[in-house]
Amino acid sequence: MLHNKRITLFITGGIASYKAAELTRQFIKAGAVVRVVMTDNAQKFISPLTLQVLSKNKVYTDTFDEQDAEVVSHIHLADSTDLTVIAPATANMIAKMANGIADDMSSTTLLAITAPKLIVPAMNVNMLEHPATQSNLKKLQSYGDTILDPDTGFLAEGYEGKGRMPDPYKIVEAATSLLIERDESLPLKNKKVIIAAGGTKERIDPVRYITNDSSGKMGYSLATVARNLGAQVTLVSASSIEQPFGVTFIAVESARDMQEQMLKHYETADIVIMAAAVSDYRSKEQSTQKIKKSSDDLELVLEKNPDILAGMGKDKKRQFLIGFAAETNDLEKYAMDKLVRKKADMIVANDVSKQDAGFNADTNEVIIFQPDREPIAIDLKSKDEIAFDILKIAIKTINEK
Ligand code: C5P
Repeated sequence: MLHNKRITLFITGGIASYKAAELTRQFIKAGAVVRVVMTDNAQKFISPLTLQVLSKNKVYTDTFDEQDAEVVSHIHLADSTDLTVIAPATANMIAKMANGIADDMSSTTLLAITAPKLIVPAMNVNMLEHPATQSNLKKLQSYGDTILDPDTGFLAEGYEGKGRMPDPYKIVEAATSLLIERDESLPLKNKKVIIAAGGTKERIDPVRYITNDSSGKMGYSLATVARNLGAQVTLVSASSIEQPFGVTFIAVESARDMQEQMLKHYETADIVIMAAAVSDYRSKEQSTQKIKKSSDDLELVLEKNPDILAGMGKDKKRQFLIGFAAETNDLEKYAMDKLVRKKADMIVANDVSKQDAGFNADTNEVIIFQPDREPIAIDLKSKDEIAFDILKIAIKTINEK
């Protein structure tokens, strides 16, 4: 998403300025073209040379340093910006931006930029909470700017409080989300995608449960890719891996919790993906107290869980339903059976007996089955790449319908 995007990064003078070097590196790594503008105070914390080396571009510091007679540099820079990031944004710069003050290279360029702005405030908690700063931030939001909420933690002053600049990867995520939000040409724009991920847990007693080896990685990759393609994503997750940015996240534990949440969002969904490994059975009794060991045998009676995908298939209206099939043998036979029995529009089948595919791996190798279409085999690649292929094929089928 950030590939070839022209990001203008404004660094203003706070102690968090040192993190702007890593932020620049991460933007460059994501393929962006980064130009950096620094205030006088920022240069007291970090050298423009560092940013020049990392961004591979000259750093702007002076409004009147006009090196090219053909253009006015701050206007040229403003007009050739796709995304503006102000990180760290001091209380002073926030006040200037909120009030249209343009008295140096940074504030003057910021006033001239029409591209989306991501403001990353970082300052002492009392400065942040001062009514003047809060009112300035509200004003900036009313102008259409996006504010990334500061983290709470150990401040440079030596005490805990809100005001820390979030880690660079979170700023990169927020910048990506902002561009996605504003891009009307994305194929899943205005589409709602709900995804179930992870292995459900079925309680036996307060400290024990039945579960499986699913990590949730495939579902999380699908959520991130669907978001990057412009969709509004709801991720119903029984996994504990870190939540992807820019999606509505709902944590669940059991199959029945998962079913309840999926059905809540089913009516309005355009694409539904069941990438979860749902426990087929749950313990019939759930003890409210820890079961004590007494006899040599302990009998656990299991009862069947609802089949979430099949239930949604039965009530299908306009939704495009994608299910998964994890098999150790007769892949095609079982996948085709699921396609029909669960009334799915697509079954993504993988052979979980293979080492680099399926449960817990970072890579996968799948075959995509759709009614009345030839199966499509996708060779071993990262789960993000597989997710992109799955969604690309689903979009093609939906558009042909
Ligand atoms: O029947 P099987 O578990 O092999 O089917 C796999 C597909 O069905 C997956 O998409 C899985 O998420 C979904 N499923 C479900 N509810 C269940 C079991 C599986 O939605 N109880």
